[in-house]
Amino acid sequence: MRKNRKSRKNRAHIQPPNLLGGYKHVIMQTNSDVIMRIDILTLFPQVFESPLSCSILKRAQDEGLIEIVLTDIRDFATDNYRKVDDKPYGGGPGMVMMPGPVFDCAEHVRKLSPDKGRVILLTPQGQKFNQAKAIELSAEKRLILIAGKYEGFDERIRIGLDAEQISIGDYVLNGGELAAMVIIDAVVRLLPGALGDEDSAKDDSFSAGLLEYPQYTRPEVFRGMKVPEILLSGDHAKIAEWRKQQALERTKKWRPDLLKDNNKK
Ligand code: ADE
Repeated sequence: MRKNRKSRKNRAHIQPPNLLGGYKHVIMQTNSDVIMRIDILTLFPQVFESPLSCSILKRAQDEGLIEIVLTDIRDFATDNYRKVDDKPYGGGPGMVMMPGPVFDCAEHVRKLSPDKGRVILLTPQGQKFNQAKAIELSAEKRLILIAGKYEGFDERIRIGLDAEQISIGDYVLNGGELAAMVIIDAVVRLLPGALGDEDSAKDDSFSAGLLEYPQYTRPEVFRGMKVPEILLSGDHAKIAEWRKQQALERTKKWRPDLLKDNNKK
């Protein structure tokens, strides 16, 4: 049930850029009635501006279901150059995120809300993200997502913050920002009240371990292709049976690995 949505005050907390293009880390206390608070620690807060300011994610913030707070790790650098990365000990290419700024940033952010939060590092070394993980994370009161750049994080960040690692797939992105955004998108749509229609997340692909059944809308005939007769029949039991069958067939054909995964459970 959607609970008292209109009475919640607008609490979108994407921190505004200051005049230098950076982000101020102002103290931002969580409101107790938000379902989830998401903190994003990043070197590129601006990457999140557009995806967080439209559609379901915007509405969820406007209606106070979620609170998203961006914090710029670079604000926690201690030198005049705002340095956050350095060469790897032992040699090798690229730069590694230094522990100091990430630690100070994470400790600052943790204090902004009484919930300790689940700390997640976005990295290709992490556990592979999937719908089951999205469902698991959607039960949390607070997520703290840390997006790194360069060649990765100093190992002491993972150990010291007791962070879990998540990857969104077996490929390497330039940084964790897009991965964090993927996770936020998949998790928030599962929160009660986030979608217009309460049932829409339930029928998503993967929710039952299968791909979604085929969908049709108007017109009834499009370029000679007709909507399957059964969907026009009004027989809800038969439609449900047909959809189940279609979902199973499509999964067998396009993603047989999902069926194997289900058998393993
Ligand atoms: N950072 C770089 N590549 C990534 C990936 N595949 N998943 C999560 N974070 C990443």
